Amino acid sequence: MNKKVYVGMSADLVHPGHVNIIRHAAGLGDVVVGLLTDKAIASYKRVPFMMWEQRAEIISAMKGVVEVIPQDTLDYVPNLKAIQPDFVVHGDDWKTGVQAKVRQAVIDVLAEWGGTLVEVPYTKNISSTQLHGAMKEVGCVPDIRRAGLKRILNAKPISRFLDIHNALSALIIEKLKVETDQGHLEFDGMWASSLTESTAKGKPDIEAVDTSSRLLNLNDTLEVTTKPIIYDGDTGGKPEHFVFTVRSLERLGVSAVIIEDKTGLKKNSLFGTEVPQQQESIEKFCQKIQMGKNAQQTEDFMIIARIESLVLGRGIDDAIERAGAFIKAGADGIMIHSAQKDPAEIFAFCAAYNMLPHRKALVVVPSSYNTVTEKELEDAGVNIVIYANHLLRSAYPAMVKTATTILENCRSAECDPWLMPIKQILELIPGGK
Ligand code: SPV
Ligand code: MG
Repeated sequence: MNKKVYVGMSADLVHPGHVNIIRHAAGLGDVVVGLLTDKAIASYKRVPFMMWEQRAEIISAMKGVVEVIPQDTLDYVPNLKAIQPDFVVHGDDWKTGVQAKVRQAVIDVLAEWGGTLVEVPYTKNISSTQLHGAMKEVGCVPDIRRAGLKRILNAKPISRFLDIHNALSALIIEKLKVETDQGHLEFDGMWASSLTESTAKGKPDIEAVDTSSRLLNLNDTLEVTTKPIIYDGDTGGKPEHFVFTVRSLERLGVSAVIIEDKTGLKKNSLFGTEVPQQQESIEKFCQKIQMGKNAQQTEDFMIIARIESLVLGRGIDDAIERAGAFIKAGADGIMIHSAQKDPAEIFAFCAAYNMLPHRKALVVVPSSYNTVTEKELEDAGVNIVIYANHLLRSAYPAMVKTATTILENCRSAECDPWLMPIKQILELIPGGK
């Protein structure tokens, strides 16, 4: 009987490095590829471009591969225990960093039945991370970007979004990666905030910046980024107008719109009960959701209903009644907002919400209750956390500080310590030279 060889891989953008590993493995016996699922990949880097089924089709066509099975965790142990291979073949690039622990667990479990780990020299000058970079430069078609949010929701228990107000803020979200003790972290996508977009235009957050203007602004972001976008649709406006907004957003490749259950002149929720705000009736808001759902043309686009009951002091019961009704009307998710400093009411809502029979994705915006951690929110069942205004709130004070310092000194040299060097800004966006 041939020896059994196990190879774990993501194989999103297949390159000669993958072929090299499989060739080595095939020389040792029958190759079973444990193809990492979206969930396993998303636990340490961004969700792959290709679906599992597409990746599996490519890998199963490779010479020497007898079977492709899902590997649902970054940890190889469950699959190895089930298969008990004679060999595991892997590139030798996993001895340090996040993967070192995974490697050790492989060595330990193989020892149980006398299996061997074979490490193939890493193929230089090529990596899927580099290829991802190249793909991003090519751009992203609307269909792929739009579908990105649902794929993230399927692959990760919680994802994080950050506010944009122009393409530059969006590029920060697109590119920033931070290595932490928990591994590689990055933002999953962008929140097209009505507050920060209005503020950047010098207008109050009262739906005064119309949809055409906001979509024109969003186009700059779409040109230079690939990550999913959740659009803040305010009240959605008149239902007859909302249907056009849905179609436009969908066509552009936006993944979701969030509309809030208010009517009349909308003011920002973080005013709490300081300003009079009228909540829309359940019936009318359900109609708006239904009209939006009927207008959309793809499976991927999501309409998320935002509930203002807690902000307006109407209590958890009212919020839950609305959540149930909005889901029944077709909402693909619920956003619950709160203007309290303490997250207690959010947690109380989450507990009750999780009991709903057809629970959909849950979104929160911890602007006022900002000491809450993503882990606490994840444990409460939250699926998306939106940091709704933090990029603009950090940019404005920095600009005021610079302007003040120039006035105080009648020159700019004193600002230098906190300014980006001229060379750096010239090179920030490639292609200028
Ligand atoms: C926004 O960012 O515009 C929002 C969230 O809608 S909040 O400002 O908290 O209402
Ligand atoms: Mg808003």
